Amino acid sequence: NCGNKVSTYTSIMMQQLIVIVVSYITIGNCLPILQNNRLHFTPSSGGKSTNHINEINDALNNAPLFTKQFNKANPLSSLECTACKVALDAALWKYRTPNGTYPGLPGFIITLCKYLKIETNSVCEGMIHELQNETLFLLNKLQLTGSQLCGLIFPTSCPANDLSWNNNKWVVPIPKSHKGKHRVSPKNSKELKVLQISDIHIDLLYKPGSAANCKEPLCCRDNNGEVGQDKVTAGYWGTAAACDTPYWTLENLLQRASEDKFDYIIWTGDLPAHNDWSQTREGQIKLLSNLTNLLTHYFPNTPVYPSLGNHESNPVNSFPPNYVKGVNNISWLYEALAKAWSPWLPHDAITTVRESGFYTTLVKPGLRIVSMNMNYCNTENFWMLLDPVDPNGELAWLVKTLDGAEEKGEVVHIIGHIPPSMTGDCLKVWRNNYHDIISRYRDIIMAQFYGHTHKDEIEIQYNDSSLAHPVSMAYIAPSVTTYTKLFPSYRTYSMDGNSWRVLDHSTYTLNLTEANTQGASPVWKLEYSARAEYNLTSLDLKSWHELYRSWVNDSDQSKTFQKYYTNFYKGNPPNKECDGDCKMRFLCGIQTGNYTSPC
Ligand SMILES: *[C@@H]1O[C@H](CO)[C@@H](O)[C@H](O)[C@H]1NC(C)=O
Ligand SMILES: *[C@@H]1O[C@H](CO)[C@@H](O)[C@H](O)[C@H]1NC(C)=O
Ligand SMILES: *[C@@H]1O[C@H](CO)[C@@H](O)[C@H](O)[C@H]1NC(C)=O
Ligand SMILES: *[C@@H]1O[C@H](CO)[C@@H](O)[C@H](O)[C@H]1NC(C)=O
Ligand SMILES: *[C@@H]1O[C@H](CO)[C@@H](O)[C@H](O)[C@H]1NC(C)=O
Ligand SMILES: *[C@@H]1O[C@H](CO)[C@@H](O)[C@H](O)[C@H]1NC(C)=O
Ligand SMILES: *[C@@H]1O[C@H](CO)[C@@H](O)[C@H](O)[C@H]1NC(C)=O
Ligand SMILES: *[C@@H]1O[C@H](CO)[C@@H](O)[C@H](O)[C@H]1NC(C)=O
Ligand SMILES: *[C@@H]1O[C@H](CO)[C@@H](O)[C@H](O)[C@H]1NC(C)=O
Repeated sequence: NCGNKVSTYTSIMMQQLIVIVVSYITIGNCLPILQNNRLHFTPSSGGKSTNHINEINDALNNAPLFTKQFNKANPLSSLECTACKVALDAALWKYRTPNGTYPGLPGFIITLCKYLKIETNSVCEGMIHELQNETLFLLNKLQLTGSQLCGLIFPTSCPANDLSWNNNKWVVPIPKSHKGKHRVSPKNSKELKVLQISDIHIDLLYKPGSAANCKEPLCCRDNNGEVGQDKVTAGYWGTAAACDTPYWTLENLLQRASEDKFDYIIWTGDLPAHNDWSQTREGQIKLLSNLTNLLTHYFPNTPVYPSLGNHESNPVNSFPPNYVKGVNNISWLYEALAKAWSPWLPHDAITTVRESGFYTTLVKPGLRIVSMNMNYCNTENFWMLLDPVDPNGELAWLVKTLDGAEEKGEVVHIIGHIPPSMTGDCLKVWRNNYHDIISRYRDIIMAQFYGHTHKDEIEIQYNDSSLAHPVSMAYIAPSVTTYTKLFPSYRTYSMDGNSWRVLDHSTYTLNLTEANTQGASPVWKLEYSARAEYNLTSLDLKSWHELYRSWVNDSDQSKTFQKYYTNFYKGNPPNKECDGDCKMRFLCGIQTGNYTSPC
């Protein structure tokens, strides 16, 4: 029950599905129908649902789901789980046509969403409009039952045991023998400086003075309602609330960062804001191209290695594998990426970007970057239900790439958006395969770099739950965006020019309380540097492992765990102290690997 990695995106579609549950509970033994754009309830005649009247009545008396926000860390009770299955069965039964399509379903969900005031009218309409092509296609192909849908929405508290994608084991073959020749020795051994920028989430409608608390999932924007009684308004440089990044704050960040010289930049995805209900493919492409130009403007001579976030698509999280043709075909995005990234990447890298959104390239002789498209491990990428086996052959490609690197004596840095966490958003089978691959090539993988969670985290991969044998180290960099309740940040690394090991990293943060004060100008301050902060002699895997073990052992006299906890929230943690269950959750979130999660 590791709540610290709850998805940064609360899927609105899931909320809509819960709405059906709510309506069913509210009306008991009735099926909701839509007439003249208003809801009417009539008793169902027959239907599977009548078998469950007692459960529904129990639910009626006990489960006020109305007020329950969808939250993965806040699982359903068994009663709610039953209600979910029954209600979804009823809705699917009601709207299914003989040919297996569900033409009335989107309209029904929109009406219900508005009627129950789950979101504002425009969010209800916009989100369903964006999701309907994909959802109807999947429902038609998969013919899911209500139980299976609930299992998808609540995999831990309402599991469905007949979802084959969840149980189906598939294994990507990994060559055993080491082909390693002598290491390529770099000629230039000077220390490298690297900048990581993650989760920018630019909001082009950000408006200083607008409501920072609003009824929509994203606030601080033009037209999101009156400023509330709390009088909290959007600050000029950003707001630590459910708000995204003003364009000028990113410009200021890049201006400041470009005063230092970097050998290269890693840019780990998520460019658009969290207004998932009002985005279009054209808008996503325009922003991608705009931000690519902006980065080139501030860093005209610095190589940039980007990776693809889950928000770059439209709808959000939607990354169909290449066998999906027609309106849902993803090539609109991969073509745009290939075009946007072409100034930074060689021809062969652009070829795989155009096909699948991932690539590999040499930074220097001996140092290879592998940029993963982590969206094929995303639990909210519902396309993975169709055929989850190594989508687009990415993991087979990774094995081939790492094997080639081993043969050529290169070392590797892996970059990507979603980290392969046990407690996060990464599908288990994909993740286990990924961990097996990392484990096999651990000697040449110097480090991994991710984003997505918006928090400042580390992740250590172990070979088993004894936590005795560390395999690989991953850095999860904090976000530029303030979403939610965070200050904006960026991260720099120094790396050894011979081994390409990470020597140290530093995090810079903009204190918005100070920056937004009348007459002040924004100052990006060093928040901390890892070695000094955690009293580490090096940032090698072994040092992180020992630090982590000292936290697990509770023998940590130096209070470095409390520092980790504070830095996780970029200086603004929700509570002063984190011990007991809170500490357990954090410690749980750091370990990962191909073994059963203890959380
Ligand atoms: C499926 O059936 C519905 C009505 O039953 C009809 O409107 C629709 O055109 C059919 N779709 C296909 C693909 O046959
Ligand atoms: C859904 O598909 C139709 C074609 O069937 C297309 O015209 C429409 O633009 C699509 N909607 C979205 C939101 O992509
Ligand atoms: C990028 O977007 C910003 C904000 O809308 C705009 O001011 C700027 O002109 C755009 N830049 C380009 C190159 O389109
Ligand atoms: C996918 O879409 C692109 C353009 O959006 C088009 O060129 C291509 O032919 C499509 N492929 C398939 C198989 O539908
Ligand atoms: C994960 O580990 C288990 C047990 O060691 C092993 O059987 C399995 O093949 C591994 N890989 C995957 C993808 O599960
Ligand atoms: C983990 O590695 C250690 C040391 O190499 C080994 O003894 C142990 O059996 C490994 N565990 C698994 C599950 O492979
Ligand atoms: C953790 O505790 C065990 C048992 O007390 C000890 O053997 C081990 O060295 C400790 N590890 C660390 C990193 O403190
Ligand atoms: C830092 O670590 C060294 C051992 O490496 C130890 O002697 C020292 O007490 C530690 N300092 C703090 C402040 O924890
Ligand atoms: C931000 O600045 C305010 C005002 O100076 C200060 O009280 C607060 O502690 C700072 N927050 C952080 C996280 O540094």
